Amino acid sequence: MAKAIDSWGSRTGLILAMAGNAVGLGNFLRFPVQAVQNGGGAFIIPYLVCFFLMGIPLLFVEWSIGRFGGKSGNHSTPYILDSMSSKPIWKYIGVFGIFTNIAVVAYYTYIESWTFMYVIHTVIGSFTDLTKEQINDFFLLYVNLEGSDFGIPLLPLWIYLLVLGINVYILSTGLGGIEKVAKIGMPLLIAFGAILAFKGWTMGSNYASDAFPDANAWDGINFLWTPQYGSLLDPKVWMAAAGQIFFTLSVGMGSIQCYASYLKANEDIALNSVTAGFTNEFVEVVLGSAIVIPIAAGFLGLDWVLENAGFGMAFQTMPYLFQQWGELFGVLAGLCWFGLLFFAGITSSLAMGTPWMGFMQDEFGWSKLKGALSFGLMVMIMGIPTVLFYKYGYFDEFDYWAGTVSLVVFALLETILFVWVFGMDKGWKELTTGADIKIPSVYKFIMKYITPALLLIVFVGALFTPENNDWTTALQNLFSGNSWNLDPSSIISKLSHENLDIELQAHPE
Ligand code: PHE
Ligand code: NA
Repeated sequence: MAKAIDSWGSRTGLILAMAGNAVGLGNFLRFPVQAVQNGGGAFIIPYLVCFFLMGIPLLFVEWSIGRFGGKSGNHSTPYILDSMSSKPIWKYIGVFGIFTNIAVVAYYTYIESWTFMYVIHTVIGSFTDLTKEQINDFFLLYVNLEGSDFGIPLLPLWIYLLVLGINVYILSTGLGGIEKVAKIGMPLLIAFGAILAFKGWTMGSNYASDAFPDANAWDGINFLWTPQYGSLLDPKVWMAAAGQIFFTLSVGMGSIQCYASYLKANEDIALNSVTAGFTNEFVEVVLGSAIVIPIAAGFLGLDWVLENAGFGMAFQTMPYLFQQWGELFGVLAGLCWFGLLFFAGITSSLAMGTPWMGFMQDEFGWSKLKGALSFGLMVMIMGIPTVLFYKYGYFDEFDYWAGTVSLVVFALLETILFVWVFGMDKGWKELTTGADIKIPSVYKFIMKYITPALLLIVFVGALFTPENNDWTTALQNLFSGNSWNLDPSSIISKLSHENLDIELQAHPE
């Protein structure tokens, strides 16, 4: 316990690190796909409502919990939550706030390693003479470990371990290292994003071809930004919006609490948390929505985008589209794109490493080096199977349990702890101590009633997702006395499926 405790070097450093924590692959890879799959303009209103009624309140809760814990020398959620109540159960609930990070970072770093590799391939011109299909296949060969880049077998695995090693090294230098990466990475990311977004906004229909006569970048932008009120009644869209808000703001994980625990007792959290949150939203809705979708719509048409929207587009389609701007601009655009993804990724994966290190330091007095190395080892144990078995969908399973379900559960529990157990009055005092802005007092009410109620609805909704995610039909059926058919994607059917799989394995034919 005798180790000198780290703290943030400056307010700018803190804000950039916290913004770097939030701004991640989720902003550029997950958000556009979620928006397209949920009806574009139909998605935006639920998304913003979720931001104000769940996202901001959760940021308040997590920053307050974190700074509170730091005052008594605790830097990870098991001990922090424990210090807020006399019931031992919270200590165990806090364990979520360490392990979710390890589970998510295991596959997150894998994607980060693709962006790293794609920067290299862009620079050495690997994509220059390839056709659209070849670039598409390039990615598939890579993730299926069937590629032969540079003739090195299992290259994706080595690149993964290299990128993990870079993370471990930076973590071993402590908050100072994280702050430095954020100070370099965040401005570059925003600059690269602005350049590409400018291209997206201004490319218009210049690239329409015989195959895609209707190609027009503005169709993409209009699709995302024309509000469609009808879908406000569709619970599926609300669930997706809530899920995106969680993931993108990094709430429900334990990493914000950990970063905040290194604040000084009187340092502002009200303005800082809102600043970091709004920076993430700016990068997400302004930059994140102005790159992949409009550029793809500009070359290939909106119909193509609607049919092909998926997370792989960033790797399978973008390198080809960039080349259409000519060799030099193609390389520059590719560099901006994969470079920005890499910085977005690494500032987030570092954030997922700190709760583990904080715990080991508080509990066992481990040095930063020991903490960072043990983190790397844990991530390897979970991550290597993700890399090796990517093609079997191992990855999606991870993303579902660690990156979706666990966040909601933890966020619900910590909110209950903060507003009901610790108590809203004490909590509000915690939040407003040292505050540089006056938070509208309606948030006291929102945090106490609305946020926990919404979190509960999201959780129950995920438990009982109806067949085909079709809530309207399911509710109608229910009211006319029929049964509720669960979708295979609901938590309940997933759980029973897992049981089934285990049974099948235990009794082979
Ligand atoms: N918010 C990050 C993103 O948008 C992901 C993340 C989640 C990072 C949780 C840290 C903790 O990609
Ligand atoms: Na984000």
